[in-house]
This record gives sequence, C-alpha cells and structure tokens, in this order.
Amino acid sequence: MPYSAQDPPSRGSALPDFVLRQFDRGHPDFDHRQLYAILQRGIRESVLAAGSRLPPSRMLAQALGIARNTVVHVYEQLALEGYVQARVGRGTFVADMGPRLSPVAAPDAARQPAPPRKNLSRRGQTLVADAGAARLQWGAFTPGVPEVRLFPSRVWSRLQNQLWRAPTPQHLSYATGGGDADLRASLADYLQGTRGVVCTPEQIVITSGTQQSLHLVAQLLADPGDTVWLEDPGYWGARSVFRALGLKPVGVPVDGEGMAPSSRDFRHPPRMMFVSPSHQYPTGAVMSHGRRRQLLDFAAVHGGWVIEDDYDSEFRYGARPLPALQGLDRHGRVIYLGTFSKTLYPALRLAYLVLPRDLAEPFARALGELYREGQSPQQAVLARFMAEGHYTSHIRRMRGIYGARHDALIHAIRHHFGGQLPVVGGDAGLHLVLGLPAELDDRVVVEHIARTKVVARPLSLYHMRQPAPAKGLLLGYGAVREEDIPANFARLAHAVQQFL
Ligand SMILES: Cc1ncc(COP(=O)(O)O)c(C=O)c1O
Repeated sequence: MPYSAQDPPSRGSALPDFVLRQFDRGHPDFDHRQLYAILQRGIRESVLAAGSRLPPSRMLAQALGIARNTVVHVYEQLALEGYVQARVGRGTFVADMGPRLSPVAAPDAARQPAPPRKNLSRRGQTLVADAGAARLQWGAFTPGVPEVRLFPSRVWSRLQNQLWRAPTPQHLSYATGGGDADLRASLADYLQGTRGVVCTPEQIVITSGTQQSLHLVAQLLADPGDTVWLEDPGYWGARSVFRALGLKPVGVPVDGEGMAPSSRDFRHPPRMMFVSPSHQYPTGAVMSHGRRRQLLDFAAVHGGWVIEDDYDSEFRYGARPLPALQGLDRHGRVIYLGTFSKTLYPALRLAYLVLPRDLAEPFARALGELYREGQSPQQAVLARFMAEGHYTSHIRRMRGIYGARHDALIHAIRHHFGGQLPVVGGDAGLHLVLGLPAELDDRVVVEHIARTKVVARPLSLYHMRQPAPAKGLLLGYGAVREEDIPANFARLAHAVQQFL
C-alpha cells in the first residue's frame, strides 16, 4: 500500500515521495542501512525541514513494504545521533541542528552515498553507492598519500632512459609468468630481510595495485556467498572488492591487539580473513602474537585463508618494524599483499602478492587471463632501482622525514587540545586518528573543516557498524611539509573547537 495522506507526516517536506523515490527494494544493502542513509541525507541536505514530523513507523513500513521494526530501529538510530527527536505521544520530529548541519559544499562528493542507478546491475549499484575513494588526494592532511615531491625522479628517469635506449621485445610485448623476474628476485630479498617474509621469487606475483591483488584473491579463493571477515573499522577498498564479487563481508571488531573475533565468530569459520596486522588500518593497532597464532591455527583447521595487507609498515617511528604474520605461517594459509604506493608513489600502480607455493602458478595464469600483465618497462626500471640500492635508501630517508612530520603534528595537537582529544595509532605509517567525542557526527565536522581548505576523513566512514561506535578524524602527514603543519592544523583546530 502506498503511503497515504491520512496523516500528513511533515510540515513543508516531501517526505513520502522523497523516501519512496529513493528506496529500492531490490537493493542488496540491508533495508535499515538504506533507509537510514536516505533519511540522514534528507535531513542533512534540509530536504526534510527542521520541525517536520516523520511518518509513523507503521505507515512508513507499510509504504516501503519492510518490517516495522526496521523503521523503528532507523528512527532510534537517528535520534541517538541527534538528527530527530522522539516526542512521547506525538511522533518523531526532525531536529533543529542549527548551523552545524547547514548544507555545505561537500569536500569530496565521491564519498557521499550515490543514489542508486537503475541502469546498473545490482553489483554495479552497490559498487558505486559504496565507493570510498575521495576525489581530493593531495594536501594537508590527506591520509594514505606519501610525499611524492621527494620521489627521486632524476635517478628514476636515468634508469628509465637506459631501458628505453634498447628495450627488448619482452619489455614491449604481452607479458606472462607473474612479473619481471629481476623484480621478483629483488623483492624476495627485500621482504625476507626487512619484513621476515619467507618466500622464493617464484612465490611472488606482481600486480597493478592492491585492488587488483584483492580481485585475484577473491576470484581464485572464494565463491559468491562465501563469508570474509573484515576488520571493523577497516579498509573500505577491500570491502568494495569483496562485495562487488558477491562475497559476504562480516565486520569483526578491532581492539588494541588487532582483529578480535568473539567465540560466536569462531563458531562460523569464514572463507577468508582480511587483516592488517602490522599497522591496523585505520586504528594503527599491532596484532599481538597470540592473536596471530589464533588466526593462523583457525585458518589451518578450517581450510580458510588469512589475507595479510602489509601496506605501510616500512614507516615505524621509534620501535623496529614488526615482522609479517606470513613468516609465522607453517600451513601455507597466508596470502601476503604489499604495494609500492606508499614507499614510492600511488600512480605507479605496482603491487605484489606473496603466495603459498602451489598457488603462485595459478595466480599468474589468472592474472594474464583476466587483466593481462602490465607495465613491463616500469617493472624492469623498478628492479634496477631496487638492485642499485635506491629503494632502501629512499625508504630510510622518508622514514626520517615522516617521523619529523609526525612529531610536528602531535605537537600541534597538544598545543591546541592538550590532552582533551586522544591520539590513536600515532607511532607508524602515514596517518593518525584524532579521537572525537562519540556523540559528535564526525562527517559534519569534516565538512566544516573542508571549508578551511584542510582535508580530514571521518573515522565513522571506516566502520561497518552504523552508527559508528567511535568518532574521530583521520589525519595524514605524508602530503604536507613539516613547516606547513602548524598553520594548517591551527585552521583545522579552530573548526573542530566549534563542535566541542
Ligand atoms: C589499508 C590499505 N591497503 C592497501 C592500500 C594500497 O592500495 P594500492 O596498492 O591499490 O594503491 C591502501 C591505500 O590507501 C590502504 O589504505
């Protein structure tokens, strides 16, 4: 039954239409997530005016053909976050959020949930609606981006020129076999020496980025409908790939020792467990030895896979980098993922998988079959870059630079906030998390910060559980010079202070 006007729901708002138009019963998202997103967007964009009444839950449930409990749950969630107010005996009303929620130019529209697009497949709709990649990928305090201005481009162009003076047919034709042999040999040495990864060059497959590595893993090791455990909060890039390929992501909370499955979780063994044990993304937790053993044993007993994302552990300030989980694996259950995006530059699009022996050949074959191997000349240049020692000296140099930026950011945080806001995960990588009070909407805070031409990402975007149990700002220090940190942070702090 369509929503009827027996009980006009709201003063001056087009609520039933607005919701009915956007709600898609075929959408693979859970009903409550979809309805929550529609209503939240409506309130934030003032399509639903402050003071207007939401339709009674029973009526809205009927109009949408969903369970009433779902609507009740969504209303409760919105009330908890201050978007609406429940008035006993009168109904649920859109709250007056004051200037905080006035519509502002979103800093990165790509992160706003996109409306469902009817001409796309269901999978396509989910992919686009959940797209996490932000448009703005540079400047203070964009997380996850290294200092590309200091990339040793003169050395690189010298090596590149050498190659292009006499490229071989192998460099310029279709490649097969999992990547440049010299690059795989250099990588095997590097990974054993610095990350404790146990492997031969034959176990390495070179890809065009972690996203492609994940695609291969999901397609070769899981079938649609299989479950995959994801850290919650965690890397949305992995979630996007797994969901697009029909896997069922299950969020597992993270604590100070990394992914923390409950005994209930352990009763339902997943096909894969995606973890970032050396530097949990985004909280920075380091997985304890006990948890590493627990996951490895669990995978061995149930025939599951541990997918280890080791994306930025070269940059650890103070303590030595921790060895990879892969080095502890005695049963061939770990797929290790690495990337050159953080150590060199993201546009290079080169990454790698380290696979159990029997999987390397099928993975190389599937890579050729699905995508064709790419960037052979770049791979050859990188092999030379590593063999001549430029890679390790670049990492050493950048570790010092990022360490100084990290200290400058911590100093700025203390200067403006003292101990008022906690800093999480600040001793490694290229970003840290500045905690915010749980009752704040960190997305609104981030929109406000964007007006000051500073980038931050809301922690809640990395959570699968909604409302997110913790709020905060991801702040990267790779793309901002040390001397520019105080002024940029002062602008950010001023914006944040208005919410405290
Ligand atoms: C957790 C995590 N893993 C891996 C990557 C690297 O992805 P790629 O190799 O596709 O650049 C990123 C990039 O931001 C990341 O945040």
